[in-house]
Amino acid sequence: MQNQLVRILVVLFVLFFWSCSNQIDLVQETSPDGKIRVEVFTNNYQKPGYKVFYKDDVIIDSSFIGFDFKDIPSIDKNISIVNFEKLKFVEDWETVWGDRKIVSNIYNQLKINFEETEAPNRKFSMIFRIYDDGLGFRFDFQQIDNVNQLVIMDEKTEFKLTGDHLVWWTPGDWDIYEHLYNTTRLSKIDALKFRNHENLAQTYIPYNAVNTPVTMKTDNNIYLSFHEADLKNYSGMTLKIDTTNFLLTSELVGSPDESKVKLERSSFVTPWRTIQISETSGGLIESDLIINLNEPNKLEDVSWIKPMKYVGIWWEMHLGKSTWDMQSGRHGATTENAKKHIDFAAENNIHAVLVEGWNTGWERWIGFEDREGVFDFVTPYPDYNLDEVINYADSKGVEIIMHHETSAAVRTYEQQLDTAFALCKKLGINGVKTGYVGKIIPKGEYHHGQFMINHYRKVLETAAKYQIMVNAHEPIKDTGERRTFPNMISREGLRGQEFNAWSNDGGNPPEHLPIVAFTRMLAGPIDYTPGIFDIKFDKYKKENQVNTTLAHQLALYVVISSPIQMAADLLENYEGNDAFQFISDVPVNWEYTKVLNGEIGDFVTIVRKDRNSNNWFLGSITDENPRELNINLDFLDKGKNFTAVIYKDADNAHWNDNPTEYKIEKLNVTSEDKINLKLAAGGGTAISFFVE
Ligand code: NOJ
Ligand code: CA
Repeated sequence: MQNQLVRILVVLFVLFFWSCSNQIDLVQETSPDGKIRVEVFTNNYQKPGYKVFYKDDVIIDSSFIGFDFKDIPSIDKNISIVNFEKLKFVEDWETVWGDRKIVSNIYNQLKINFEETEAPNRKFSMIFRIYDDGLGFRFDFQQIDNVNQLVIMDEKTEFKLTGDHLVWWTPGDWDIYEHLYNTTRLSKIDALKFRNHENLAQTYIPYNAVNTPVTMKTDNNIYLSFHEADLKNYSGMTLKIDTTNFLLTSELVGSPDESKVKLERSSFVTPWRTIQISETSGGLIESDLIINLNEPNKLEDVSWIKPMKYVGIWWEMHLGKSTWDMQSGRHGATTENAKKHIDFAAENNIHAVLVEGWNTGWERWIGFEDREGVFDFVTPYPDYNLDEVINYADSKGVEIIMHHETSAAVRTYEQQLDTAFALCKKLGINGVKTGYVGKIIPKGEYHHGQFMINHYRKVLETAAKYQIMVNAHEPIKDTGERRTFPNMISREGLRGQEFNAWSNDGGNPPEHLPIVAFTRMLAGPIDYTPGIFDIKFDKYKKENQVNTTLAHQLALYVVISSPIQMAADLLENYEGNDAFQFISDVPVNWEYTKVLNGEIGDFVTIVRKDRNSNNWFLGSITDENPRELNINLDFLDKGKNFTAVIYKDADNAHWNDNPTEYKIEKLNVTSEDKINLKLAAGGGTAISFFVE
């Protein structure tokens, strides 16, 4: 396999077996470093459960598990532990792209085999993988019935917390993740308050539940984050909140007939339920738990998968300068405008251009009920000469990113998928941005339910067949499948920059990214579309603005993890602006990543080493409070001299009062040096360290 150059593998098997006559009530295993310990048990009512300890303190108290099915009895009691198996696993694997080149995958596995003590004596297993930075567990059901369609009505996996932790959460919306984060104690979570948000084209929040990743901090300063890994042919998991007992219970996303998961046979494996545990907030970001809990790369040839920066015909529509449709007379996606973007990209070390609104159908996009058959993904508007644009891009060495807004008419998209991707292939396009704005057709399905999870997977696998990278908007959350399909290059799945252009609730507050870095970003790459320089854009919208400084926008290229990053602003705002040099210089694929400091919702500083050179880059951002941070440069390679180019807030910069003033400084530094960062309110600092 071309991409897996380094692969060290040591696997030790240890097998324990107990005969049924010796009753086992409790089994335990620790992480390789011994700090995390998991106990699995059955209680007096023979209900199976687990408990997690961190350095001998309970971190997850006795939590029970169970499943409800359609037409057959639930599995949740009268269960005994039959036997268990243990395994130690050590592996280093190489990523195709990402935050670090080599990922260590080191865990102790505990597999517990359960059986019902009464007829029909159904069997299932629970598999724990315990890492130094957290754990995952999944359920493995082997042939629990003779039916050939098994319907799961509910998964009842509990996470019993030990106190009223401080939580960074978004509501457990079945249809969209584009909510602001709330910071409250667990007992104060009130997701139902966020029903019917006017800025969302689709939303459904049936319970007081949260979406994952959900991150929290205990009063003993332990950071926890709950999520899932390897989500496929199943429904997304939200976590229902019991505010009195500090209990989280899985609440899977439903479907039109109220079932949660439909399976073609009665054996199944659930996604991993994951718990990250760290003594530092930065430890959460540095963890590879989620990606490790996915299967290795299935694509043989990955030469066509290219991390890249892009500009696009995009922000201008969100500002109202132009439109997606042609009817308005202000069509954005014209041949001429595309060429202008290609020229800019070619001159500024930007690899690609995204063109939205290129295909017919946009007159009937948002708010229309009958969206089936509206977009065909192959027919350009008459003022957009697709072939001419492609040839022009080719001649300049620039790629075009295709746009497929499905308007959530999923059946239409599936019918067109091969034709649409075949066109891309023919044109030499190998990146597609997909979109799913609106309520799903067929009615009653949700973006985060099994039906859509299977759809997103189908698109990803079909795209791989045509050698196309996928950047999904209104996606299912990332659960690490990029390890298996590295063409899953990025996705939205959060309140992106676009909200600053048009939301009527004040846009994204300065603390947004300092929260996102420790929550949504733990799942995987984010297509946030940073780099807005004209912060107030009064020419287009008096009521809206970006709530950060310009330097903060630059720092996002390092803070946010993604192998594709947009330079999102209008080209005219970049022309002649020397801060754009940072965007030209910053890479999108990393050898190594380190979090230097941070507090969730307040600030974070991340450094990353370029995968293709010895240069380092730093991004530091703060919330609405100004901050001074002392940075030790000991992460730089020893014995080497670097030129640091520092892009920082001007002394009197402020996200609202003076957002665009910045300074550029040059320093000669080595790993022995320290520097002091001064971040304005809502500000940031971006630094390129060029090796000499
Ligand atoms: C919503 C996406 O997030 C945005 O990036 C895109 O421009 C519009 N949908 C249109 O597809
Ligand atoms: Ca969106």
